Amino acid sequence: MAVIHAFPWFMASPDPWSTHLMYSGSGKSSEASAVSTPASDALVLCGATGDLAYRKIFPALQAMIRDGSLDVPVIGVACSGWTREQLCERVRSSLAQHGGGVDAAAFERLTALLHYVDGDYREPATHQRLRAALGETRRPLYYLAVPPSLFSSMIGGVRESGRIEGTRVVVEKPFGRDLASAQALNRTLRDVFPETSVFRIDHYLGKEAVQNLVYFRFANAFLEPVWNRNYVSSIQITMAEEMGVEGRGRFYEEVGALRDVVQNHMLQVLAHLVMDVPVNAGATALRDETVKVFRGIRPLVPEDLVRGQYEGYRSEDGVAPDSRVETFAAVRLHLDSWRWADVPILIRAGKRLAASATEVLVQLKRPPQQVFGPAGVAAANYLRFRLGPDRVAIAIGASTKHAGTAMAGDPVELYVCDDHGPEMSAYERLIGDALKGDPTLFAREDGVEAAWRIVDPILNLPPPVHPYRQGSWGPRAADTIAAGCGGWHRPAPG
Ligand code: BG6
Repeated sequence: MAVIHAFPWFMASPDPWSTHLMYSGSGKSSEASAVSTPASDALVLCGATGDLAYRKIFPALQAMIRDGSLDVPVIGVACSGWTREQLCERVRSSLAQHGGGVDAAAFERLTALLHYVDGDYREPATHQRLRAALGETRRPLYYLAVPPSLFSSMIGGVRESGRIEGTRVVVEKPFGRDLASAQALNRTLRDVFPETSVFRIDHYLGKEAVQNLVYFRFANAFLEPVWNRNYVSSIQITMAEEMGVEGRGRFYEEVGALRDVVQNHMLQVLAHLVMDVPVNAGATALRDETVKVFRGIRPLVPEDLVRGQYEGYRSEDGVAPDSRVETFAAVRLHLDSWRWADVPILIRAGKRLAASATEVLVQLKRPPQQVFGPAGVAAANYLRFRLGPDRVAIAIGASTKHAGTAMAGDPVELYVCDDHGPEMSAYERLIGDALKGDPTLFAREDGVEAAWRIVDPILNLPPPVHPYRQGSWGPRAADTIAAGCGGWHRPAPG
């Protein structure tokens, strides 16, 4: 039986002037009002010849065409000296490599919508050509799939156009390099756009399995009574990847694991796991609870961080031969809240590890009395959420009696695996939501800053980086982080 549910209030509407209901399940909340937002009437893709567009955005656009949810001009912008025909070929290759194959009809439709403007973002002439390409459209969505250093030139060009009202902007991660640069970026955006027009992508928020953490917790009554420090002994989140930096060495040198996935994806997963019940499922309520979680987490200190680097990383293209950038990070967090005080919260993320798996383990405390003696209860006593990449599942680890005269048992898992078949990719979901103006699955200004505040103190003076073997679970030194919690949980491969 499948357990993964899409929130019904997020359903896409093909109507470009759609009305989005942001309301609670009960419909009783004060936020339960219909918010009417005119949909964007053009998509401007800045960085159209780049890696993100190639791997994620064009495949998402093909899927949207198939679903009938994309019917606006798509204007690619880049500074590559390309023609529109070259961009179309790039789209074809992207769909073949990353879009599950080229769907001839969808490809034809997509390329019919596709325009291309070549030029430097810092040149006024580029923006003039872009304005000409936008023609009569009035409410473009600018997707800034470019390095943050180019944001202000791009935003400046939009400001010059005098078309701010109705314009939306999608900003890709990494959103800044630290707290100060994130604040500066937020100021740059705020100078031109209201917060309601800014969509900060963290693609983990677009994943069904991540949304289901909140759904599963609050759509059922059985979990909430035990979801606190009285019953939970520790929380672990592992994001393990078998792949390395895959040709992105130059980018990775600028970020490292902490900035790449811990400050954003992992903290968002954590927020979904531990947040208090939102008053409804609207964008404001959910994001308020996320910010509350981040504000309750103590800023990291060096003793709560172990960094690792896989052997061979320094020979990757674009990587310095003496690089000290981490490809692995293990952190212990402290969440000072009534619900979670003193519960160890561990996050571990790394590349070239033994498996590809993103998994949460919430370990429950042992029963207070040993009714069946010390050997009578098997050690299983947990909730496990497999969030991907290939399999999505929820499991409850428990003990059941095995046959025989003794009151003794075995660990079993009550296991439910998603069998929904192909589902919307995170990028398809998020681009669709941004076009419609629904901010629910995007990071808010205060949330991004609160998340940076957690990692900021150790960014400049991080502890040393420990080498680790490719295909291992990271450096041995990381065991100290999980000492006292029974060690690290190792998700099964596949
Ligand atoms: C990206 C990171 O944001 O997320 C990558 O930059 C990482 O380094 C990727 O590999 C993981 O995403 P997913 O969806 O494959 O788990």
